[in-house]
Amino acid sequence: MIVIGSDHGAFELKGCLVKYLESKGQEVYDCGVFDTGSVDYPDIAQKVCEKVKSGDYEFGIVLCGTGIGISIAANKIDGIRCALVNNAYSAEKARQHNNANVIAMGGRVLGPDLAINILDAFMNASFEGGRHQNRIDKIHALEK
Ligand code: RB5
Repeated sequence: MIVIGSDHGAFELKGCLVKYLESKGQEVYDCGVFDTGSVDYPDIAQKVCEKVKSGDYEFGIVLCGTGIGISIAANKIDGIRCALVNNAYSAEKARQHNNANVIAMGGRVLGPDLAINILDAFMNASFEGGRHQNRIDKIHALEK
């Protein structure tokens, strides 16, 4: 199961991604927003990341206008490794090297086709472990 959330700046993109994931047989939990009314992206980041931390979800997707604000907020939450991705290569590496458990994208930056392409690259990749685990351990040591 995958968890997703967006602010008003990516409401449309969220709808496209939910539809795409469901068409692929993925179960998606949608944390909102459910209309284009203005909200604060840290609230959405918190909702999605708490779900990711529960361990019940494969990964999370957070979206805002640029992806920047919501990725910054997500990365303030212990245990979250959120990657802001704008291309398929970065998305693949975010999983292979950084074991990102949340990806962020910008609804005002990416069209739906590119966002789907990026999402596919992330989902088709796997964490490579080894030296990368050591680096991730050091990232989380910074939270202390
Ligand atoms: C909201 O207008 C906008 O600031 C937000 O979606 C995001 O782009 C922030 O980083």
